[in-house]
Amino acid sequence: MGDPDTLRYTRIPLAGGIGAIPAVGFGTLIPDRGATRKATLTALEAGFRQFDCAERYRNEEAIGEAMQTAFKAGTARREDVFIITKLWNTNHRPERVKPAFDASCRRLKIDSVDCYIIHTPFAFQPGDEQDPRDERGEVIYDSGVILVETWRALETLVDEGRAKSIGLSDVSLEKLREIVAAARIKPAVVQVEAHPYLPEWDLLDFCREQGIVLLAFAPLGHGLDPKLLDDPVIKAIALRVGKTPAQVALAWAVQRGTAFLTTSTKPERIRENFDISTLPEDAMREIREEIATKVRFNTVVGTGVPGFIPRAS
Ligand SMILES: NC(=O)c1ccc[n+]([C@@H]2O[C@H](COP(=O)([O-])OP(=O)(O)OC[C@H]3O[C@@H](n4cnc5c(N)ncnc54)[C@H](OP(=O)(O)O)[C@@H]3O)[C@@H](O)[C@H]2O)c1
Repeated sequence: MGDPDTLRYTRIPLAGGIGAIPAVGFGTLIPDRGATRKATLTALEAGFRQFDCAERYRNEEAIGEAMQTAFKAGTARREDVFIITKLWNTNHRPERVKPAFDASCRRLKIDSVDCYIIHTPFAFQPGDEQDPRDERGEVIYDSGVILVETWRALETLVDEGRAKSIGLSDVSLEKLREIVAAARIKPAVVQVEAHPYLPEWDLLDFCREQGIVLLAFAPLGHGLDPKLLDDPVIKAIALRVGKTPAQVALAWAVQRGTAFLTTSTKPERIRENFDISTLPEDAMREIREEIATKVRFNTVVGTGVPGFIPRAS
């Protein structure tokens, strides 16, 4: 007898009747390419059908290879895997969008993506240097392009059938409202840091109203201090329901209506993170009402420079 709980197979409809995104997602921000290949394959075997990639992660080839291996072996079919990739800050100028998109597709060995996301709302100096800095070590931003111009170039990719959907990442609610108001094709997905220490309820409410999927990154708090997985509320629920703290945090993410991206290079953790089950309503309420700790772990929303900031516990 299998587990009848279907939470792990939740699919959230995308606005405009263009299909659905599996809520349970695997993030590929893994520095080593061999480890990326192995983790991607293990995640596909474990059941993950949503993968988040990015040109900035410099490992799209490894993901493409793992996907091809899995497709050939019959582990998964391309049409069942929701593949996201992201446009980097140095490619915001409209004429750079298509070449960047094509290069990502080539590396991932696919013709189209399920969602193409603007990685951050910050435009950096265009060019091949992904982290352009001046002589003082300061990021060189590009004042020659505004976000809505980049958005228009993404809309063209939808028109051409190359991106099934498009989205934003690391945006504030204010910036999201601006793009929603100006867009011909509305964002389908918004990828931001979100977990019980940073629940982003206002953003989630707006996304719900607009039919936008909130895709939470760092749903386990990225393993940083203060450690979400050591939180007494999460630990007590885990004990009560016979799941691990990670499974509790991930189930909470899906049950409150978000999709998530979790990452591990350890096969047993990858399987653990897929094996989530529905939490009782009192557990959902306790996580919302009894956790007072509030922490943002990643400063990318303020600068466009990604980075989790370790802090003392
Ligand atoms: N848009 C953006 O700006 C942005 C920024 C950051 C991340 N992301 C995306 O979001 C993805 C996920 O972010 P994240 O890595 O911060 O997610 P996360 O799942 O919150 O944190 C991953 C960390 O938790 C550990 N971990 C994983 N499963 C665990 C478990 N069951 N028990 C205990 N520890 C566990 C991992 O260590 P081990 O590997 O040792 O297991 C890893 O250090 C990234 O890969 C990327 O795709 C996007």
